[in-house]
Amino acid sequence: MLSASFILDPAFTIAPVSRRTFGSFVEHMGRCVYTGIYEPSHPTADADGFRADVLALTRELGVSVVRYPGGNFVSGYRWEDGIGPVADRPVRRDLAWHSLETNEIGIDEFMRWAGKAGVEVMYAVNLGTRGVQEALDVQEYLNQPDRTHLARLRQANGHPEPYGVTMFCLGNELDGPWQTGHKTAHEYGRLAVETARAMRSAEPGLELVACGSSSSAMPTFAAWEAEVLELTYDAVDYISAHAYYEPHDGDLGSFLASAVDMDHFVTSVAATADSVGARLKSDKKLKISFDEWNVWYQSAFHAQQATGWEVAPRVIEDSYNVVDAVVVGSLLISLLRHSDRVTAACLAQLVNVIAPIRTEPDGPAWRQTIFHPFALTSRLARGEVLRVEARSPGYETARFGTVPVLDAVATHDAGSGEVTVFVVNRHLTESLDLAVSLAGFPAGLRVGESWTLADDDLYAVNTAADPDRVVPRAAKDAEVTDGVLRAALPPASWTAVRLTTG
Ligand code: AHR
Repeated sequence: MLSASFILDPAFTIAPVSRRTFGSFVEHMGRCVYTGIYEPSHPTADADGFRADVLALTRELGVSVVRYPGGNFVSGYRWEDGIGPVADRPVRRDLAWHSLETNEIGIDEFMRWAGKAGVEVMYAVNLGTRGVQEALDVQEYLNQPDRTHLARLRQANGHPEPYGVTMFCLGNELDGPWQTGHKTAHEYGRLAVETARAMRSAEPGLELVACGSSSSAMPTFAAWEAEVLELTYDAVDYISAHAYYEPHDGDLGSFLASAVDMDHFVTSVAATADSVGARLKSDKKLKISFDEWNVWYQSAFHAQQATGWEVAPRVIEDSYNVVDAVVVGSLLISLLRHSDRVTAACLAQLVNVIAPIRTEPDGPAWRQTIFHPFALTSRLARGEVLRVEARSPGYETARFGTVPVLDAVATHDAGSGEVTVFVVNRHLTESLDLAVSLAGFPAGLRVGESWTLADDDLYAVNTAADPDRVVPRAAKDAEVTDGVLRAALPPASWTAVRLTTG
C-alpha cells in the first residue's frame, strides 16, 4: 500500500476561488447549439425552444460563465446574420467545421438562454475575417443602452435593456494555421491592440482577453505570447490558454499526469507575461483565461474530419470513461492551484461536442463521467485556495518523467470554517493511503461529505441506456481522528472531502 501526506494551514493561501474558474463553452459546432441547448420540437422544450433538461443539467453542473459563439467558428462568423426575424436570416457555410449554419440561434436567443441558465457570457469577437469595426458593432449591439443605431436595432428586436457583457475574447486561436484568418504574432498583436483600444474607449471597464497559444505543443508557444503581449500589454487584462489531453498509444500513466502539462503551461505563460511586464516597467499583472480545456480524443477526430456541409452534424461526440473523469478532476485541481493567475477557465464544450452533457434529438440528456468532478468541484470549492506541498511517492511516465502519485489542492471558507480537499490518486493499480494534518485549524473539523470517482473498469462510460453507470460514491472510510484526515484512495481515482465544523 502506498501512502502520501500533507499539512493544511489556513495561512497557506494562494488566492480566492474565482467563480469564473467553473466556466464552459458553447460553440456553433456540431450539435452543441442545435439539438444541444436548442431543440424546439423536443418534449422538454420551453417557449423559446430551449431544452429544459439541458438547462437543468447546466445549472446542476455549476457553470458560472459561458464562452460564445466560438471557437474556430467565430473566425468566419458574421454576428449580424443571427439577429432579427429568424425567417430572414441567411444560411451560411461554416468553414471551420464544414457544416451549414442556419443562424436560427444568434446573440439575442443565446443571451436569453444564458439568463435562464444563470450564467455570465464571455463573448468572442471575430478577428479572423473581420476587424475593429465589427468588434465595435457587436459591442454596441450588446452593451449600448440606447439612442444609437445598433442599440435601437437591439431594442427593435425585443431587447430594451443592454446585456452588459464585460468579458470579450479578442478572436480565437489565431496562432493556429487551421484558423480562418490565421496571423503572425505581430499581425495579430497589432489588430488586437487596435480593437482593444477602440472597445475600451467606448467602455473603459471591459475585461479583454488576447489570444495566447492553442496548446503548449505549438511551435510558437511562449514566443507568440511574448510578441503579442509586447503589443497589447496595456490594453488587455487576460492572455488565453487552450489545452486538450488524450492518452497516446494507450499510455494511461502519462495521461493521468496531464495536469503536469497544464501546470507547466500556466507557469510558462505567467513567466512570459511577467517578463514583458518587467521590460515595460508595468505594475500590472496579466491574468490567464484558460478558456478551452478538456479531454479530447483528437487523434481519432483528424481521421474523420470531413462533415459534408450538413446542419448540426455529429462531430467529436466523445464518450468519456472513468480515467477521463479522473483527468478532468486533476485538471481542475491544477486550475485551482493557479488561482493567483488563472481567474477564468472554460471546460470545452458544454453539450454533445466534447462535453459533460450529452443529448439525443427527441431523446434523453445525460451526465457524462466528466460531469461529476466538475459539478462537485464547482459546488465545494469555496473561499481561499490553500497551497499544498505533499509528500508523495512518484511513478515513471513516458511523457513527463517521474510524477507524484498524489495530486491535491484544498480550499478554506473562513466564513463557514469549512475546508474541502480535492485529491487524485494517479496510480493505475495501487491504492494510496492519505493523511492530511489539520493542526492549523481549530479542533472539531469532521467529514461533512466525501465523494470518490473510481471503478474496477477504467473504460466504463455513461450512455443514454445506462446514464448512471459511473457516478461518484461516498468515500466511506474518510474520517478525521486526532486532527488528521485519513482516506484510502482507490487506484486511478478522484476524491473530494468536505470538512465541516458543525
Ligand atoms: O473546442 C473545439 C475547438 O478546439 C475550438 O473550436 C477551437 O478553438 C479549438 O481548436
